[in-house]
Amino acid sequence: MNIHIIGGGNLGVAIALGLADFAKQTRITVTRRHTDAIQHLTQKGITVSADNTHQIDQADLVILTVKPYQTALVLQEIGGKLGNAVVASAVSGVSVADIRAHLPNHAIVRIMPNIAIQFGQSATCIAFDDKDRTAAQNVVSVFQKLGTAPVIEEKLMDAATVLGACGTAYALRYIRASMQAGIEIGFDSQTALAIAAQTAKGAAQMLLEEKIHPEQLIDRVTTPQGCTIVGLNEMEHQGFSSSLIKGIKTSLMKIRE
Ligand SMILES: NC(=O)c1ccc[n+]([C@@H]2O[C@H](COP(=O)([O-])OP(=O)(O)OC[C@H]3O[C@@H](n4cnc5c(N)ncnc54)[C@H](OP(=O)(O)O)[C@@H]3O)[C@@H](O)[C@H]2O)c1
Repeated sequence: MNIHIIGGGNLGVAIALGLADFAKQTRITVTRRHTDAIQHLTQKGITVSADNTHQIDQADLVILTVKPYQTALVLQEIGGKLGNAVVASAVSGVSVADIRAHLPNHAIVRIMPNIAIQFGQSATCIAFDDKDRTAAQNVVSVFQKLGTAPVIEEKLMDAATVLGACGTAYALRYIRASMQAGIEIGFDSQTALAIAAQTAKGAAQMLLEEKIHPEQLIDRVTTPQGCTIVGLNEMEHQGFSSSLIKGIKTSLMKIRE
């Protein structure tokens, strides 16, 4: 599969590196205007160009990873130069209909990955119109190689952006706070970070493998009158779950502005 990624920034590069490592049958091109920052991708066999239309007529899949305000310009630039490519947009807040207005003859898919896609660990939510279902299934297959790829209704794309993409930052802040506490109770920073990160990864892995409610696993860790439950309850008294829920809802309100 020939994949062109337009917008080689944080997300575009993460997708390119993930594809290079986990979808080895793909040929990848990444474009941005200032290519100095992404020349390192060539070491992975990825083509780098400042020209968004470079061999784009041969692309099977075009992935848009530019900022929302850059999208219309890019679509005008590539419109009419695409062959049979499916267009997958990771641009937040830009709808399938917005893109279809520029590219009426192409299958359009919205994707919402997160930057863990570089390590094959993204939760990439995917939405499309029913008429593009067949073409979209190929896109789903690509992103399933890079983590999970749940198909959702397009009306949930903003929520997916917050939970799945912004969610990376929330999870990292949880790990940072654990690390800081770890230092306060005696570890050096590197050891505290290694323990906190692996513990979060292990907890997530158990949930994904066992497919059960988090509280069932929490029950396995909390001895009656033990140190875990008193710590957990103190966190809740201080607003732990409530602050996370409020933060996620605030992010959603911001995205909808
Ligand atoms: N970062 C995330 O975790 C994440 C997750 C999900 C979705 N998204 C969405 O993905 C998009 C990109 O986010 P990002 O964080 O990766 O932003 P970013 O780091 O700013 O990347 C955007 C890239 O687009 C390039 N660009 C700008 N104009 C261009 C043009 N005309 N042609 C080709 N490339 C152009 C920029 O490079 P030059 O200035 O050199 O051209 C820049 O490298 C956004 O719409 C965002 O909502 C991001």
